[in-house]
Amino acid sequence: MTTEKLDVRSDVPVSTIWDAFKALKIPYQPTERQLAFHNSPAKYRFYGGAVGGGKSKAILMDGVAQCLTMPGWNVLILRRTLPELEQSQIARFRAEVPVKLYSWNEQKKTATFVNGSTLRFGYLESRGDETRYQGDEYGCIMFDEATQFDLYSWTYMTTRNRSTVGGRTNMAAASNPGGKGHAWVKKLFVEKRPAPGMEAHEYNPSDYSFTPAKLTDNPHLLRKDPDYLKSLERLPYGLRMALLEGSWDVHAGQYFDVFDRAEHVKHDVALEPWYPRWIGIDWGYMHGCAAYWCAERPDRKIVVYRELVLSETPVGEIASEIASLSHGENIETIYLSPDAFAKRSEERSIAERFSNVFQANGMPSASVAVNSRVTGWRYLHDLLANDNLLIHDSCSSLIEKIPQAIHDDRPGREEDVLKQDGDDEIDAWRYAVCSRPRTPVKPRLVRLAEAVTSDDPTGRAMQARVATARLNKEFVTSVPMRRWAAVQ
Ligand SMILES: Nc1ncnc2c1ncn2[C@@H]1O[C@H](COP(=O)(O)OP(=O)(O)O)[C@@H](O)[C@H]1O
Ligand SMILES: [Mg+2]
Repeated sequence: MTTEKLDVRSDVPVSTIWDAFKALKIPYQPTERQLAFHNSPAKYRFYGGAVGGGKSKAILMDGVAQCLTMPGWNVLILRRTLPELEQSQIARFRAEVPVKLYSWNEQKKTATFVNGSTLRFGYLESRGDETRYQGDEYGCIMFDEATQFDLYSWTYMTTRNRSTVGGRTNMAAASNPGGKGHAWVKKLFVEKRPAPGMEAHEYNPSDYSFTPAKLTDNPHLLRKDPDYLKSLERLPYGLRMALLEGSWDVHAGQYFDVFDRAEHVKHDVALEPWYPRWIGIDWGYMHGCAAYWCAERPDRKIVVYRELVLSETPVGEIASEIASLSHGENIETIYLSPDAFAKRSEERSIAERFSNVFQANGMPSASVAVNSRVTGWRYLHDLLANDNLLIHDSCSSLIEKIPQAIHDDRPGREEDVLKQDGDDEIDAWRYAVCSRPRTPVKPRLVRLAEAVTSDDPTGRAMQARVATARLNKEFVTSVPMRRWAAVQ
């Protein structure tokens, strides 16, 4: 069969192309799951989950199938970097698709099929690489290992998804869970909700489809390499759930892998008025401002009990809002991100402007928050691991962001959390918790009142003497972060 005979346009069901693949000696007959991905009518398709499910191969062969069935059609397959692209998709394409079907341009990494369709292999390694595709048109754009990209790349490329030859323009993505793009991919395709930074009207859930991938879907791999499954079964929990089960809830690279909603998120957090209370703020205008209110209980558990997240709000308004939310509470300290203390020419610093409003409301002025990222993240991890950090369920943005924090995978930075757009909440959380001022000491008067229970005056005097003696012997066993860090 020649490819001219495959001029079947898009009105022919895609499944028929797989018979043509057999005739053309392209070694690919989709599994049931791969077929579900190929046949999904959604504009944006996602095939995601376990490793080895056959996702990358499905992306490649989907591209080849579209080229063969649509003359003049342009397909772009993207990976994050050129070496990854060459070792995976390009190598597989060159090895598996017979050369008589296309001519290859090494410089452009593009195959031109005999019907005029093109299949280009591209990469988007750094911000700005998208402009390499400026002015191009692709009827189909596919992202392999989509969670290695950020949402900007995907959104930018949607503007290149056009066709002048008719046909149904479409985009697709394939990926394992984990990676810096885990959150947006999960949001758009798994949860079917707009990603952070996307307006609700920009998102139509029926445009998006999700085909979950399991290793066990792929008999080819299991037959060729039966030990592969066993090696995945031996992985630590987070990696195993992500790579073997294809879970989008627990994933590889997650920083706060110890975070457990059932354990750490509470609705009832009894807070006495005398517990130390303080606030941590990450200030930003465009990128947003987040603030967390904390209290520490005598059992040393820190409770994050209130959240404020605002964007594009002037300092004065943020400060007033913080003051009004704190009304009636004894806030001891307000920690603010260190960059807010920078002096710009003659102007008052951001911190001074915050402080003026706080003072006018009878609150303390802003103090510089503790700003050690790596130690801070580890401290938070440690508090969570030991169930010493509770979060009130009203802090919904924070609760959403904690599982999304991932390790920075650059060499030497693995202990840091990767900086991402929209991480104001976890930065503010870090500033708040890590600046922890002191462990609460129940006021002497409260403790005395609790100890003195007798109705008889002599008994009361005795109890008061004993309690006072005990109180005088005590010392505070506070472990603020500075000291905690020193013993690590
Ligand atoms: N339908 C298929 N027919 C033959 N081999 C397949 C098929 N699907 C996947 N494979 C093979 O299974 C292995 C894993 O597939 P791959 O696409 O790399 O998985 P993933 O991207 O999900 O990790 C590869 O060796 C691939 O060639
Ligand atoms: Mg793959």
